[in-house]
Amino acid sequence: MTTQPQLEPSGVKPHQELISGPYLRNAWYVAAWSDDVADGGLVARTVMDQPIVLYRRADGAVAAIEDRCPHRFAPLSMGKIVGGDRIRCAYHGLEFDGSGACVRNPHGSKTIPPRLRVKSYPVVEKHKAVWIWMGAAPADEAKVPDFAVLDNVPEIFTTKRDSITIRANYQLIIDNLLDLSHTSYLHEGILGNADTVESEITVEQDGDDVVVGRHATNSAPPGMFAQFWPNHPPRVDKFTRMRWMAPSTLRLVTGICQMGAAPESGTGYTAVHMLTPENARSTLYHFTAVRFGVMTNDDRLNRDLQEKIAQMRRFAFAEQDAPVIEAQQRVIEAAPAPLDPIILAVDVGPVRYKRILDRMLQAEAARG
Ligand code: FES
Ligand SMILES: [Fe+2]
Repeated sequence: MTTQPQLEPSGVKPHQELISGPYLRNAWYVAAWSDDVADGGLVARTVMDQPIVLYRRADGAVAAIEDRCPHRFAPLSMGKIVGGDRIRCAYHGLEFDGSGACVRNPHGSKTIPPRLRVKSYPVVEKHKAVWIWMGAAPADEAKVPDFAVLDNVPEIFTTKRDSITIRANYQLIIDNLLDLSHTSYLHEGILGNADTVESEITVEQDGDDVVVGRHATNSAPPGMFAQFWPNHPPRVDKFTRMRWMAPSTLRLVTGICQMGAAPESGTGYTAVHMLTPENARSTLYHFTAVRFGVMTNDDRLNRDLQEKIAQMRRFAFAEQDAPVIEAQQRVIEAAPAPLDPIILAVDVGPVRYKRILDRMLQAEAARG
């Protein structure tokens, strides 16, 4: 159902939760890109305050176990893989398998008391990413958010699978992504411009997904998109369609097309945004993009664009979004009392997702 946006009371009081959680635990989060977990490597992560080490077992499957040796608490990620399947702690040599069990104690009688183990977490590899399940409910692979756009696509049309850390609560980043009016200001010239401020906004709810559209007609093409279209007309329509999938992944279809034409006829990319809370004040942000409506078969040009899109998006997120969002976090934390944001017409999407997420958080808390 498509609804015209209307001002709604926010019902959103950011404050305590931007400092202390909570997180939706019974859900999949991206722990790493699959490429990041190479054979023989140990990848340290923090997910929802839990230290985790990822590695590939001998059978190629990724294991995720607690990154804290139960002996003297050295991070297991400082150790090394031995025997194909086990991590040996760097400090005193205890060895743990992918289930978290200690399988070798080289000291004394060599006995292994039952408490000598670490937690392990369900992991699935899908859409070129390693997904981790942090909750107590059974992990359901069918609940991995749909990023099939990343499957079976030529690498030349996919930008680098990249990541950054933003020192802010993941919900501030969802707010950022569901209100792309900021592209006209924070990313002026590359992702938006003065013409794209005036946009028709639509908000749809599709099950528990929220889809926010922004359509700006009669715009100069923003710099990034102009490069996709050799000899583009001076005025085009600029479209964005951002889908939030609970709890914190988003998929954006954006680009430019002839004025009045269907967006699918244009050129642009599907952008992938995957947010993983490290803790209440820090978020690991994985991103990539897949082009559509490619207008040339020139490999050299397409490779050049592949590189440019990757660099431009990293610049936009790390150098333009992150400083503002991190400053927001600091300002909110420093406020002497909880703050209640003034809600504008552009905030319908952020308000809508927050209600759904809050409902899910409450349901999870009620289940205990
Ligand atoms: S801290 Fe790991 S074996 Fe001692
Ligand atoms: Fe942005």
